[in-house]
Amino acid sequence: MAVVETEKQGDVAVIRMNNPPVNALGHALRVGLQDAFNAANADPAVKAIVLTGTGKFFSAGADITEFRGEMKEPNLPPLIDHIEKSAKPVVAAVNGTALGGGLELALGCHYRVAGKDVRQLGLPEIKLGIIPGAGGTQRLPRAIGAEAALQLITTGAFIDASKGAAAGLIDKVVDSDVVGAAVAFAREQVGKTPRRIGEQKVGKVTAGMFDKARASIGRHPSGPVAPKAAIDAVEAATTMALSEGNAKERALFREAAASPYARALQYAFFAERQAANLPGVGPDTKLRDVKTVGILGAGTMGTGIGLAFLNAGYPLTIVETTQEALDKGVQRIKDTLDANVKRGRATEAQAADRFARVTPSLKLEDLGSSDLIIEAVFENMALKKEIFAKLDKIAKPGAIIATNTSTLDVDEIAAETKRPQDVVGLHFFSPANIMRLLEIVRAEKTAPDVMATSMAIAKKIGKVGVQAGVCDGFVGNRMLASYGGEVQAMNLEGAMPQEIDGALEKWGMAMGPLAVSDLAGLDVGYRIRKERKLTGEAAQHARIPDKIVEMGRLGQKTGAGYYKYDESRKRQVDPEIEALIKSEAEALQIKQRSIPTDEIVERSLLRLANEGAKILQEGIALRASDIDTMYLNGYGFPAWRGGPMWQVDNVIGMKKAAERIKAYEAKYGARWKIAPLIEKLAAEDGTFAALDAKKK
Ligand code: 3HC
Ligand code: NAI
Repeated sequence: MAVVETEKQGDVAVIRMNNPPVNALGHALRVGLQDAFNAANADPAVKAIVLTGTGKFFSAGADITEFRGEMKEPNLPPLIDHIEKSAKPVVAAVNGTALGGGLELALGCHYRVAGKDVRQLGLPEIKLGIIPGAGGTQRLPRAIGAEAALQLITTGAFIDASKGAAAGLIDKVVDSDVVGAAVAFAREQVGKTPRRIGEQKVGKVTAGMFDKARASIGRHPSGPVAPKAAIDAVEAATTMALSEGNAKERALFREAAASPYARALQYAFFAERQAANLPGVGPDTKLRDVKTVGILGAGTMGTGIGLAFLNAGYPLTIVETTQEALDKGVQRIKDTLDANVKRGRATEAQAADRFARVTPSLKLEDLGSSDLIIEAVFENMALKKEIFAKLDKIAKPGAIIATNTSTLDVDEIAAETKRPQDVVGLHFFSPANIMRLLEIVRAEKTAPDVMATSMAIAKKIGKVGVQAGVCDGFVGNRMLASYGGEVQAMNLEGAMPQEIDGALEKWGMAMGPLAVSDLAGLDVGYRIRKERKLTGEAAQHARIPDKIVEMGRLGQKTGAGYYKYDESRKRQVDPEIEALIKSEAEALQIKQRSIPTDEIVERSLLRLANEGAKILQEGIALRASDIDTMYLNGYGFPAWRGGPMWQVDNVIGMKKAAERIKAYEAKYGARWKIAPLIEKLAAEDGTFAALDAKKK
């Protein structure tokens, strides 16, 4: 089938877009649409036009890959204006997802009929660091009102067909045969003046709403440029005629698109998808059938992981050692499901249905029927080995047996079974029902179909799966250990917790590293450090956090850690901690100084990227973009900053990064030893991105 085809249904021309996988509005599709509309408008036998897509997609919008080059005509904005000007009635038969340029195209049609199963209607451009650029900021406010449009455009949120109808975006929702319904609808419009949204005025505008919106974009996940541009563009729709407003939108679109934040966010979009490509896995790899899930351990992680599966519709067996622990875990699951209802994230019926799928048990044997078993017991090698040896005897043939360990050697755990090919690390992040990252740890013998299935499951439960190899801390936490060490060094050197967290939060991190430690609980790291019997510099860097724990300050849960917390858990600077840091520095004879904000950010970023480069060279991470994907989805790194590796490629520069790392090495010694890969790439004028591209 051609990219665009027209089929005549009597006096109605049905124009169908067919550009797999998502009907992105690339050049060929735009040419096809232009030709098809010209032909339909010129054909006297055609009285009305229906525009539709194929499969699950009406259209997912502009082809993002074209943003990097010169856009070839016809461009989307004039094409949509041209469609709207059509003298014959044009009805969009919204058969599936209509996003960005796809929804703008539907808004250029005079009417919209949608299938009731359509779930993704929206203008998500903001998530790519841009704004709708084909009239979306002008027509959507005219269709659904300025306030609702502003909300959709600045968040990039999706709505479904019924919400779309309630808002005034969709004229008719039908159970089936969207095209048939649209054809009938179109026939009813023949002879009437088409309703052109662009000719309408925006309804009532609440005074001060745009200023209020501008005042609230401080820490927008898309960075500082696009949100402001989006607000300006929607405001323009309330005062300007369509053509003038479109011109304003265009200018704002270009400004946002030229910002480094747009490049970073678009990189992040493709990096996330690239992470799903795994070595040894291809279109022929048959996935294992996973319909039932078993979890061992109903603690923090076990219950969180269980919730992630329940929310995606899986039945769950959860096993504990004591009735008390089991009851506590099941209650936690119930409480979270109830809280989700209160927050409007699920209906009561959904929560009840999810809870009904939980089978609590005290018998390991009950995991015998699970297609996927995830172990989430205490972080103790002897215990995990014992459990895996038992699971080997219980699990059904072909079941995937996963461990959620965050530090232990997955090869060693797998070796306890006679089926190491079925063993994988599924490293979830806390809270596991919320955090998007899933580190999929590929052990030496993990089978390719186990990797492929794990990746597919990640997607099903709304996570971003990224492969990691076996090493201490895998990818994410190994880098975090380097960065955390630098943070401690900066503490001792004189940067107070609020200065470090403040600098990094101002730069865009969701939360500074010390505030994160307080949130996660300082006892977790304390236990690990004590087990490791640290020496040298690592022992020095453990002094402050160890002392804080020994003072009984375990973080937010005890009302104090690096900070003091009031009842609302708002953090406050604590002079006691400042005094502790000063006295520890004195004891170590470290002369304190004030560390500038830029230096705090640079040292944090370079320690992350330097360790990332080592991980990449060792093959523990497959690609630099995988590392960035992990940091954006699991560690609160701002997506509009691309990730630590992207920063080196695009902002710091490889040569400058190498110079700065060497300068820090000269000053601070071994912990700053430069990654040979950075040295090599700097010498060759290379980048991480170019290295990734060679691996494709
Ligand atoms: N342009 C180019 N490629 C796209 C694309 C787009 N707009 N949307 C998706 N793709 C590609 C993906 O990269 C992926 O390619 P791959 O298989 O080679 O990795 C493939 O299509 C399938 O995508 P997903 O794996 O993401 O498929 P899902 O079914 O999980 O999700 C989706 C589908 C919800 C449409 C999701 O892909 C998505 O959110 N896409 C982006 C939508 C968007 O942001 N649209 C606005 C574009 S900007 C615009 O329209 C500007 C305009 O205002 C002028
Ligand atoms: P937790 O202490 O909250 O829960 C562990 C649970 O396992 C307890 O309820 C315990 O009763 C149960 N358990 C112990 N032995 C068992 C057995 N033989 N059979 C069944 N249940 C048993 O611990 P948490 O935090 O949930 O950690 C679990 C695992 O997840 C650890 O390996 C940890 O390293 C890992 N992890 C923890 C993260 C975190 O932030 N807490 C993040 C990522 C991974």
